[in-house]
Amino acid sequence: MTEVVEKNPLLEGLRLTRTPEPCAMVVFGASGDLTRRKIFPAIYALAVRRLLPEHFGVVGVARSEETTEEFVERMKEAVQEFGRDEFRQDVWDDLAGGLRYVGTDFADEGGEDEVVEALNDLDSKRGTKGNRLYYLAIPPDAFTTVVEAIGKRRSSTGWTRLVVEKPFGHDLATARELNTQLQEHFEESEVFRIDHYLGKETVQNMLALRFSNGIFEPIWNRQFVDHVQITVAESIGIEGRAGFYERSGAIRDIFQNHMLQLLALTAMEPPIDFTADSVRNEKVKVLRSMHTPGPKHVVRGQYGRGFVEGVEVAGYREEEGVAHDSMTETYVAAKLYVDNWRWADTPFYVRAGKRLARRETTIAIQFKRAPHPPFAETSSDDLRPNVLLVHIQPDEGVSLAIGAKVPGQGMTIRQVHMDFLYGGAFRTGLPEAYERLILDAMLGDATLFTRSDEIEEQWSLVDAIVAQWARDRPAFPNYAAGTWGPRSSDDLLHRDGRSWRRH
Ligand code: BG6
Repeated sequence: MTEVVEKNPLLEGLRLTRTPEPCAMVVFGASGDLTRRKIFPAIYALAVRRLLPEHFGVVGVARSEETTEEFVERMKEAVQEFGRDEFRQDVWDDLAGGLRYVGTDFADEGGEDEVVEALNDLDSKRGTKGNRLYYLAIPPDAFTTVVEAIGKRRSSTGWTRLVVEKPFGHDLATARELNTQLQEHFEESEVFRIDHYLGKETVQNMLALRFSNGIFEPIWNRQFVDHVQITVAESIGIEGRAGFYERSGAIRDIFQNHMLQLLALTAMEPPIDFTADSVRNEKVKVLRSMHTPGPKHVVRGQYGRGFVEGVEVAGYREEEGVAHDSMTETYVAAKLYVDNWRWADTPFYVRAGKRLARRETTIAIQFKRAPHPPFAETSSDDLRPNVLLVHIQPDEGVSLAIGAKVPGQGMTIRQVHMDFLYGGAFRTGLPEAYERLILDAMLGDATLFTRSDEIEEQWSLVDAIVAQWARDRPAFPNYAAGTWGPRSSDDLLHRDGRSWRRH
């Protein structure tokens, strides 16, 4: 092998605690939206911060005919449009020197050869040392061919890792099949299944909050917590992804992955350390302890026409590519239980939907009421329970609702908030989830990725819910775009004498 001839000038003399080893990344699905909107802007953000390996290159692989020059130009535009940093030509030029493009559908050996050639070229010109990070941003039907091809032609030197995007299967059976295929060629420690919510700073902060502060642990259980509410609300619609969304709906798109992961992080036991296996062992126990709620504890909805932030928008069935009588749900809410000593009988109410009034992802831990209000002038209705609210996005932060005395005569109590806002406490901007995840995969750290058993537990819960749904046809659409979902979702909590947190 030729000695390395190109060096990254930005890295000269810099020491980092988390610098990955030299490697070449191969992005399958290089002409897709994810590559443009997330993967490349993230790679560029890592380059700006000098977090990439000193010897690095990327091979983009997709079906479209494109030259490397055209690919480089397209990725440059993507970085300029979607990146979070001011564009720097010097950083880009250095990165672009290590980009290659291969146009193939990968079904024939010729395509494989070209990819291997491009990788060998990177090894010799950029010093990537045979280490490979394969990123599968491709639809599930293309998965098998690619996994087998990579598996068969693993580099004999260096490590091989595989990053797999969602959707990981369509149900338990297909997810198991994918896991089996992967296990034929790769060790579990080489597979990095993405749930990009785990890459969000504020989601990781949930762990920091729980396990670096002694005050929460003693009250983080059924004795003190009345219930938990998790909301993943989006104001956007399906953004031209009808083909995908018609098949997935809210339960497969958000509930199966992001929602259940948020719940697992909220409910899990303290891990003994922050290694991939310790954290995932605790999460999988939560997922395994959840039972399928009866049909009356799961609500589904689909948006009709309405107004979102003052603009009139179409109903789901009017979106391009959606069947005029589609029964796909764009909203799901459920009451779930975690059957263990910490949480028995404590409801976890969860909801996720498209075209809701606002974008908001929150985890609200609602504590039990104070046992006896001694203030005669304050009605017990005014004494609201404490709520610890974790704002995942936007307005990232944490806030604790407490009762406080209104200034003046007498003893009137009102609820006020003690707030921690990321923007105020830390001056640096928050990194995008993909930056963290791509870097972790390069470092071989799987803590923030989903293990095969977690995925399978998630699917078995979804399968059970979907099986109940097959029995009836709700009257869709049942909520107007720009509202907070169907009325039956409010009833879900009202029946228990509770209500969704006010916005
Ligand atoms: C994706 C879903 O996984 O998450 C999308 O497929 C959804 O439908 C997106 O819009 C939400 O991600 P974020 O980071 O914007 O909350």
